[in-house]
Amino acid sequence: GKRLRAALAVLAGGAAGQITAGHIDLAVIVELIHLASLVHDDVMDRADTRRGTPTAAARWGPETAVLLGDCLFAHALKLCTRFDSNLISRRIAEAASDVVQGEILQTRRQYDLSLTEAEYRRLIGMKTGALFAVAAELGASLAGAAEPVVAAFREYGERLGLAYQIYDDCLDLVGTEQDTGKTLGTDLEKGKFTLPVLLRLAEAKDADVDRIRAVLLQGDLIQRCEFIAELHSTGCFRRAVAAIRDELAAAGALLDVVKSNVHVTALRRLLTAVDNHIGK
Ligand code: FPP
Ligand code: MG
Repeated sequence: GKRLRAALAVLAGGAAGQITAGHIDLAVIVELIHLASLVHDDVMDRADTRRGTPTAAARWGPETAVLLGDCLFAHALKLCTRFDSNLISRRIAEAASDVVQGEILQTRRQYDLSLTEAEYRRLIGMKTGALFAVAAELGASLAGAAEPVVAAFREYGERLGLAYQIYDDCLDLVGTEQDTGKTLGTDLEKGKFTLPVLLRLAEAKDADVDRIRAVLLQGDLIQRCEFIAELHSTGCFRRAVAAIRDELAAAGALLDVVKSNVHVTALRRLLTAVDNHIGK
């Protein structure tokens, strides 16, 4: 994996003060929770490939995969007890709870055509933004940063997480399994309506709405492919990309709360890296 959340924890420390041994523990904690959530996510999405190799569920079956995810999560909780202050365990527990609740929300809103863009943003803010946010927040906090700096880093993480999940959701529609190394194309098939789809639904003329709804609820593979082409021709992907870039720009501005150093520069480069991935 890219270990983005772990990088965030350590870089936030260096950007807001000093990197300590605690930052390494924090990095491991957020990465383990992320890994646990992916192992569970692949069971829920019935995905057979992740990072170019068979998922835990494909290898050992869903039962063992769920237990493996629990085990990774428990190990992360054990590492939280290494800190003298209970701030770390409390914030990590809250973030993990947000991640799971975001996933519950997503599951409950599957095939729900009334899902709004605001609700989608809240949902991905929980399932993805929360862990990015807590990594950056606690990274700054462990470095002894003042409260306004900690809050700015938290929002930086949240916005980067949002941008990343919108991008990841676009990839599920248009990416290739060869490039991403994971099972794609499951969102539309499983009724998970993501930003480009919601933008199309919101702007479609009355004459198109019934046709689109029918494709989303019971379309076959060919109809779903045609719908993805429609998302291109109607500019919905372009608008989703603009939304990603807005989040990245807002995240970049938040870094102005600290004096620039090599770690701040790296945090800015993370934003540019996501931007470059999107391309034109
Ligand atoms: C990836 O979504 C999944 C998440 C961001 C969170 C998944 C969380 C759970 C399954 C709850 C369990 C959580 C814990 C802490 C044990 P995606 O399917 O959009 O991304 P993908 O394309 O990488 O699969
Ligand atoms: Mg998935």
